[in-house]
Amino acid sequence: MSRTMLIAGNWKMNGDAGQVDAFARSLAADASAITADMLVCVPFVYIERLVAGLADAPVAVGGQNVAAEVDAGAFTGEVNGAMLADIGCRYVIVGHSERRAMYGETDSVVAAKTSAAVAVGLTPIVCVGETLEQREADQTEAVLAAQIGALFEQCDARTLAEVVIAYEPIWAIGTGRSASPEQAQDVHAFLRGQIADRDATISESVLLLYGGSVKPDNAAALFAGADVDGALIGGASLKADSFLDIARAAG
Ligand code: G3P
Repeated sequence: MSRTMLIAGNWKMNGDAGQVDAFARSLAADASAITADMLVCVPFVYIERLVAGLADAPVAVGGQNVAAEVDAGAFTGEVNGAMLADIGCRYVIVGHSERRAMYGETDSVVAAKTSAAVAVGLTPIVCVGETLEQREADQTEAVLAAQIGALFEQCDARTLAEVVIAYEPIWAIGTGRSASPEQAQDVHAFLRGQIADRDATISESVLLLYGGSVKPDNAAALFAGADVDGALIGGASLKADSFLDIARAAG
């Protein structure tokens, strides 16, 4: 099965209104020549502004987090999936390692958020990945198997068919030290195998993104991996030029 590459930006807690406007103008001018699907996930408060700026451009907008609760209610500070969809989001990042490490999101919470996103028609990008200590202790596969296993235990097949997975080795995030193309491909093949053990159809269609210090100069080599279906980009997504150059590398 052929999968369309997805190039996704994660601005994290960065940006301001002027940066959103300038980014949208650049993307609107150049995006139509790019064949990969593109997505930018900005802080909640800038989502509507980016949606408006990209109204005529083939670039989707997403959130970086979503409440585990589907229904509205007394959840101070939370934003549910229906609200994200209401203002034009099509995707949402779920279970980024920063949220797992700093905000206590467990595999179970990540699975609940994944189901909540799909329930309202959003595509969740579920992040998985190992720490440096786990990699050095040869635990990478066990860690990833557990993270994928929790999703399959708690989410139904309809949900799992909509999920995008982002492999983000924690040691490569914001460090300038990307996984090598071989390391990325090896892990992606392992992840696809884990999924195939549970559902052969989903394993063929699921997009597996790589994230961790993706830049214009390493993107093409990373994308050469047969199981690498795109990227989730932090720092290099903050500037339209580098984001577009990475997207061009996806073919
Ligand atoms: O979600 C993207 C991310 O964690 C990678 O960040 O800055 O290493 O590209 P960066």
